[in-house]
Parts: sequence; C-alpha cells; structure tokens
Amino acid sequence: MNVRWLDTVDSTNSEALRRLEELPHGTVLAAREQTAGRGQRGNTWFTAPGKNLTFSIVLKDLPLRAAESIRLNFLTSVAVARYLRAQGIEAHIKWPNDIYVKGGKICGMLIENNLDGAMLGASVIGIGLNVNQREFPQLAHATSMACRTGKEYDLETALQEFLAIFEALLPSLEGEELLQEYSSLLFRKGVPARYHDLLTDREYTGVIQGVEPDGRLQVLNLGTGTLHHYRFKEVGYIL
Ligand code: BTN
Repeated sequence: MNVRWLDTVDSTNSEALRRLEELPHGTVLAAREQTAGRGQRGNTWFTAPGKNLTFSIVLKDLPLRAAESIRLNFLTSVAVARYLRAQGIEAHIKWPNDIYVKGGKICGMLIENNLDGAMLGASVIGIGLNVNQREFPQLAHATSMACRTGKEYDLETALQEFLAIFEALLPSLEGEELLQEYSSLLFRKGVPARYHDLLTDREYTGVIQGVEPDGRLQVLNLGTGTLHHYRFKEVGYIL
C-alpha cells in the first residue's frame, strides 16, 4: 500500500473521493489534521490534531457485487480488532462497525462506495483510530490505545503495522471465515444486556447471537424468546 501523508485536509474520505479517478488501488491518504472529519450518520468526527490516526484507503475493482459491500465492513472491523489485539488491547466490534474496548469507542469507520453497475467500482475506507489522545472532554464513551496501555505510539509505524494486517486479510474478502471471525469478535456476544428495539420503541434484555451474511444482527430477546434480525438503525445498545 502506498501511504501519502497530508498535513491538513478537511476529510481524508472527501479528499479521496475528489481524487478517486487519479488515485490507484491501494493508495492510503493519511492526515495529521482533519478540519471537517466526517463520521457515520452525517456526524462530525472530532480528533485532536497530531494525536490519532485519520486515514482513508482507496480500493478499486474488488471482486464484490454491490449487494456484498457489507463484507468490506466485516474486513475492516476484523483488521482493526486484529491490529489492536496484536498490541495487547482487547478490542471488540460493536455492530455494525465501531471498535470498542471495555465499553469505550476506540475506532470508527466510514466506508463510501462507488458502484460500477452491479459491481463495486471503488471504495474509500475511512478509519479514525484513537491512538495517543488521552482525554476526550466532549465524549462520554471514548478511549484510545494510550489510555488502555499507558504507552505513546509513533503514528507512522502504527499505520504501517495496521496496513500490513489489512492487506494480509484482503484475500479473505470472499471467504466464509471472515464472517465467522467478525461474529466471534462482537462486543457483548453471548452476554445478556439491554437493547432498544427502534422498530417498536421498546427496551428489553437480550443476547447477541451473531451476524447474518447480509450484515443483520441477531439478538435473542430473553423475555419473549424471539430471535430478532436487525438492520442498521433498527436497534440501539443501551450502554
Ligand atoms: C464514525 O464512527 O462515526 C466514523 C468515523 C470515521 C472517521 C474517519 S477519520 C478518516 C476518515 N475521514 C473522515 O472524514 N472520516 C473517516
């Protein structure tokens, strides 16, 4: 992978999308500072300049149909969890694609796809990984690598180490094992916890069982015995 470091940019995802035609497969745009980082659901991604990793990976001509694009979320989540675990940090995947360590969010991702007919044309995989920031005044549930281990990390080395894991995982994009590993890493899997069913606006105690190949989350309602299959935004975790 070919990493290009930028001092300041609005958002590495926006920059990668603007330059998508010219950027070859495997280009990584990394920013020391983002002035308008973008998060899920139109949120802003705030991060202290120079402290954390904010980068976007450009992938082109992947062997995936548009309907299978969820597999990029599986792959990226597993890669981040594997990287953090290699650093001794017990990371889990909070469905669909946040990475949590002991109830604190350490990493978020924003994956934006361009379609080429029924196939995935190009994808921009944006990752915000909290590395050296130790205080998160406006965020109740945030953490970082430094918070967990007490160490200070070199950002360029951390990025290279993550990318090696990501690249090694890319051939698994089409296989069965990816979903199994993603499911096994789920935050709260097998543990009774409170959920908010956004379809009925009811709260209940349930247990996450796993994830379907199409990305739906399976939660067993312990009160009714019903197995729910949730799409994105149909269920909330009560933290
Ligand atoms: C989220 O959890 O809401 C997703 C956050 C994604 C943030 C990363 S930082 C690098 C890339 N550029 C952006 O503007 N967003 C993503």
